[in-house]
Amino acid sequence: VDKVAVLTSGGDAPGMNAAIRAVVRKGIFHNLRIFGVYHGFAGLINGQITQMELGSVADIVHRGGTILKTARCKEMLLPEGQKLAADQLIARGIDALVAIGGDGTYRGAKKLAELGIKVVGIPGTIDNDINGTDFTIGFDTSVNTVVEAVSKLRDTATSHERVFVVEVMGRNCGDIALHAGLATGAESILIPEIPFDLEEISEKLRRGFQRGKNHSIIMVAEGAGNVIDIARQLTDQSGFENRVTILGHVQRGGSPSSADAVLAGLMGAKAVEALLEGQSEVMIASSGNEIVTKSLDIAFAPKPYSKEKIYQTADELAI
Ligand code: F6P
Repeated sequence: VDKVAVLTSGGDAPGMNAAIRAVVRKGIFHNLRIFGVYHGFAGLINGQITQMELGSVADIVHRGGTILKTARCKEMLLPEGQKLAADQLIARGIDALVAIGGDGTYRGAKKLAELGIKVVGIPGTIDNDINGTDFTIGFDTSVNTVVEAVSKLRDTATSHERVFVVEVMGRNCGDIALHAGLATGAESILIPEIPFDLEEISEKLRRGFQRGKNHSIIMVAEGAGNVIDIARQLTDQSGFENRVTILGHVQRGGSPSSADAVLAGLMGAKAVEALLEGQSEVMIASSGNEIVTKSLDIAFAPKPYSKEKIYQTADELAI
C-alpha cells in the first residue's frame, strides 16, 4: 500500500478521534500517504477527501466525537453508490480504506473490497454489539457516563425514597445496561438478551423497601422494550411510583476514558500494520489482552450472548 484513506461512519463514539490520530500518525511513520474522508461514506461518494498531515490530528486524542464527521448513508447500500465511492478512491490512486464504525460501516467497506480496494474495519460504537471483538471503542466511556449520571440520580432518589427507571442506549445489545448496572449496583437490569418478569422485579422492590432500602434503580437497555410502558406496568404491579430518566445521546459524548483512548490507539496502529502486511477484508478486534485481526465476515454474524456471569453476579449482589 501507498495511499490509505480513513473515515468514520454510523453513530459517533468517544475515542474515534484517537483512532483517526493513530491511523494517520502510524501511517506517516511508515511513509504512507493518509487521506481523511469527511462525512463517512456520503462524503466518500461526493469526493470530500483531504490529505492528512501530522498536524491534522494534533490535539484531538482526548476529544469526543469525530473530526472527520460521520453520517448514516443510504446510497452506500446501492451498487451505484458503492461504485461512485470506489471510483473516488481509485481516481486518487488510494488503494486502501480504514473504516471506523459498526457493522453497517463494515458492510459498506466489504462492498468496496469487492471493487478492488483493500479494507480494514475498526470497531467504533458505544453499543459493544460487534461480533468478534471483546470491546468496541466508545463503550467504556459510555458506561462511565451512565455510572456518573446514575450516582446523581441516586442522590435525588434517596432523598425522595423513590424508584428510578433509567433507560440507556445500546440498540439491540444490553452491554451498556449490564456493565453500568453492575457498576452502580442497580436493583434490576433489563436487557434484550434475557427475558424478565416484572412481577419478580416488583417483589424484589417490595422486599427491598421492607428491609429499609430507601430507593431503587432499575436499569433498562433501550432494546429491552418501551421504557415508558415498562415503568407504568412496574408502578401498577409493585405499587411504587417511579420516575423515568432517558439518558439519550449524552452517552455518545465526552472525552474518551483512558481505556478507550488506549484501545483506539492500539487498534488504529494495528489497522495500518495489517495493511502493511498485505491484509485486507479484516477487522481489528480486542481478544483478551491482545489486539488482533480477524476476517471482516466475523463481524456480520450475530454476537452470541456471553455475559451470563455478569448478569448473575449483578443480580446476586443486588438482593
Ligand atoms: O449505535 C449507537 C447508537 O447511539 C445506539 O445506541 C442508538 O440506538 C442509536 O445509535 C441512535 O441513533 P441516532 O443517533 O441516529 O438517533
